[in-house]
Amino acid sequence: MSIAPIARRDGRPTLAVVGATGAVGTVMLEILSTRADVWGDIRLIASPRSAGKRLTVRGEELEVVALSPEAFDGVDVAMFDVPDEVSAEWAPVAAAKGAVAVDNSGAFRMDPDVPLVVPEVNAAAAAQRPKGIISNPNCTTLSMIVALGALHEAYTLQELVVASYQAASGAGQPGIDALREQMAKVSGDASLGTVAGDVRRAVGDPGPFPAPLAYNVVPWAGSLKDGGWSSEELKVRNESRKILGLPDLKVSATCVRVPVITTHSLAVHAVFATEVEQERAQHVLAQAPGVVLVDDPANHEFPTPADVVGTDPTWVGRVRRSLDDPRALELFLCGDNLRKGAALNTAQIAEVVAAELNPPR
Ligand SMILES: NC(=O)c1ccc[n+]([C@@H]2O[C@H](COP(=O)([O-])OP(=O)(O)OC[C@H]3O[C@@H](n4cnc5c(N)ncnc54)[C@H](OP(=O)(O)O)[C@@H]3O)[C@@H](O)[C@H]2O)c1
Repeated sequence: MSIAPIARRDGRPTLAVVGATGAVGTVMLEILSTRADVWGDIRLIASPRSAGKRLTVRGEELEVVALSPEAFDGVDVAMFDVPDEVSAEWAPVAAAKGAVAVDNSGAFRMDPDVPLVVPEVNAAAAAQRPKGIISNPNCTTLSMIVALGALHEAYTLQELVVASYQAASGAGQPGIDALREQMAKVSGDASLGTVAGDVRRAVGDPGPFPAPLAYNVVPWAGSLKDGGWSSEELKVRNESRKILGLPDLKVSATCVRVPVITTHSLAVHAVFATEVEQERAQHVLAQAPGVVLVDDPANHEFPTPADVVGTDPTWVGRVRRSLDDPRALELFLCGDNLRKGAALNTAQIAEVVAAELNPPR
């Protein structure tokens, strides 16, 4: 297949979106249509199954092309919103063709030659990319790290104990579909949820989850690793350490799936090197770029997934100094796992690269 070279519109960089038809890719096209437009031409790429499909971005209908080496001709920045194995194979191809690859998958996150970037926390790391690849963190880490980065600046983080409340869409479109189906199955029976096993029988096959998610919480996300940890829990530990540049940070995570469509929440116990104070911590969070503080429990004001879904910031509330440790804070955070947790952070990284390729005159 031959693909016409892409003309650089107004000298601005050309962007490829690989995986434009997926759950994250769909949100990406929405985000590219609403953020300040730094891009010249945009090329949409997916599997051969989707070739020829037409999708709208920036108000313009574009045809999806199949992934191939030629699809990267003339591309300056290539975002990858595809499964790990597709990124592992094709991000290096894009980089070899001269593009900077910004990868949303888990394929390169812990590679020492690939920076793991959250622009509010470590934007400068994006410039050090010996493989021409930059990684985007996983959605659970991203849902808390912007707020924790601001607190780390103020107090120096030493330890994190985290419990997540993760949405079904973290398991992609199949996760969303399964939760909706399960909710439909249980909603008509007012007696369910009173006898062990009744929800499990009503739901039947739990789909991508290891237990019913409707009327339930499931203490599992990802695959089994040594010592009984889940892959998701280890990602929170390893990726937080890498982003914050704290290789010895103590991190214990328990990842739990809850019956929410989109938006991950986390309860965090954070221990710092110095004593903390509730009001100053609230001030630090309120001033931090990308963070919104909603913390007025007397008036029942705190973030919840139902209020946060579809928004860009990390929302923080329930900020308290720990009763038994003056160096520790307790917080509750919510972030949309498909926006800041995936597409938005990738778009922000790509914008950092675009500014580097085309510095403002
Ligand atoms: N869901 C989340 O909360 C979340 C958060 C952070 C990161 N991520 C990561 O983002 C990536 C995408 O996730 P998703 O939830 O958007 O998945 P998804 O809905 O399954 O979409 C996958 C995309 O990859 C494309 N694709 C699959 N196989 C391909 C191949 N062989 N060649 C070219 N394109 C191929 C698909 O194209 P077709 O439509 O043509 O099949 C589709 O566009 C994954 O690595 C995931 O781990 C997801």
